[in-house]
Amino acid sequence: MSGASPTSPDAKRPRSYYTTPIYYASGEPHLGHAYTTILTDVLARFDRQDGRDVLFLTGTDEHGQKIQDEAAKRGVTPMELCDTMAERFAAAWERLGTSHDRFIRTTEEEHKAVVTAFLQRLWEHDQIYEGTYSGWYCVHDERYWTEKDIGPDRLCPICGREVIRVEERNYFFRMSAWQDALVRHIEENPEWIVPDIRRNEILGFLRQPLGDLSISRPKSRVSWGIELPFDAEHVAYVWVDALINYLTASGAIDPTAEPSAQGFDDVSGSWWPADMHVIGKDILTTHAVYWPTLLLGVGLPLPRQILAHGWWVVGETKMSKSLGNVVDPLALREDFGTDAVRWYLMREMPTGSDASYTPERFLARYDELANVLGNLASRVISMIGKYRDGVVPETAADGLAADAERALESAREAMGRHRVHDAFAAAMDLARTANGYVEERQPWAQAKDPAEADALDETLASLVRALTVLCALFQPVCPSKMEELARRLGLDGVPRLDDSLTVPLAGRSVAKGDPLFPRVDPGWASEGDA
Ligand code: MSP
Repeated sequence: MSGASPTSPDAKRPRSYYTTPIYYASGEPHLGHAYTTILTDVLARFDRQDGRDVLFLTGTDEHGQKIQDEAAKRGVTPMELCDTMAERFAAAWERLGTSHDRFIRTTEEEHKAVVTAFLQRLWEHDQIYEGTYSGWYCVHDERYWTEKDIGPDRLCPICGREVIRVEERNYFFRMSAWQDALVRHIEENPEWIVPDIRRNEILGFLRQPLGDLSISRPKSRVSWGIELPFDAEHVAYVWVDALINYLTASGAIDPTAEPSAQGFDDVSGSWWPADMHVIGKDILTTHAVYWPTLLLGVGLPLPRQILAHGWWVVGETKMSKSLGNVVDPLALREDFGTDAVRWYLMREMPTGSDASYTPERFLARYDELANVLGNLASRVISMIGKYRDGVVPETAADGLAADAERALESAREAMGRHRVHDAFAAAMDLARTANGYVEERQPWAQAKDPAEADALDETLASLVRALTVLCALFQPVCPSKMEELARRLGLDGVPRLDDSLTVPLAGRSVAKGDPLFPRVDPGWASEGDA
């Protein structure tokens, strides 16, 4: 499941390196995690469809007090808990059809060695000093807070849980020294943090003086972590350990080499820097402040972009484990299939904003798949069976070519601006246009008139071309259904975006089948039973 990092990228080919956050191995995978992972999967698949080499990384965050406490609560060792939970996450991603190339676990030896080399490098570059920390700590979010942050009730500003008082020897990273460099980087690269609202949030945060970052925990309090190379009585702060996972998986650092040859001065031949860290808006500071300053501290290039998405909410509350009486959209895969859930999550949430989940909206989005895309596929394949013995005819003209090209262009453009919902809206519009074309051309009438034989060929061939383009466009969000559609169209697999416009179609045999997106009536969707 975990495995070593994939081989180094081919320098001559365009490539992208995408990451999800690594999820805490203390709780079960839920909708929030699934959304982040599916969003990243869709971006990764779209790039592969567009002819790029991709490294897509996900995994589990397995050290720290939160994991240590949870294991103690369950009466198992931290490692046993992590083994169980890493399996659960990997199984969840398999069920949701994600195409990650690497599943990293922070308890892997390779990762531990990279973290050790990273900390040693910071130490040697005089980026670390020893001091005393006294303040407040939230175990749930693994974050220190100041008196001001927690207010009179002493509650964590992120999760609202009670914080604990700590006073301990810690090692500190000179984060404050990098404040100006970071602000400059954000100002000079307006697309570095997207969407804009998140960029402004970080710039606002950086208007206050930035403190130094405690990067260690005494073993007397937290023993489940990676030991500091310069003090065996302390372990690395879990966020520092976790963020470095992105570097470990890139293959940039060889911790077994001499310090000068470990790769900190030359990342060529590796996947570093990441092209995009996809995260939720709740973990923006760690990714847009801690991580880049740590990288500056060791002299490594910064990730190219950070995309912070919004939350799935019910009413005012972030959806998580306790969904109460709400239907968990992940459970809907049992009735509607994985691709339908993926479609709903991607199409319904404007990338970057919050969205609220409702069963009614889920059904409306499913109807779109069934009645627009699914229906188009069924009627075209069935007409080719009926009027052309199941073989795609030749044609001199393509009545939908301009629409198909426009849809590809709009989808690419929207993806380039990380507006995943818009990209798929453009794809669905092409399916709608193609259905309109069927009504306009009336192939059933053309079939009755021998003088219209060429016109009928043109109608059917144009529709098969549009379906081929749709197959390529929908593949990132509905991968298994689009594989099935490709098979029914007689294609050798789902074509790449560009190839979908040119792959030869005439003479291929199409195959009928059950509806791609069948009518489903789960109990809760029946009238009067919502
Ligand atoms: N372990 C850290 C990340 C370390 S990355 C170096 C962590 N893990 S987590 O298990 O809490 O998962 C966080 C991810 O789940 C974030 O991207 C977060 O936004 C996402 N979600 C959790 N609940 C969510 C919703 N209700 N809606 C959307 N995503 C939310 O933080």
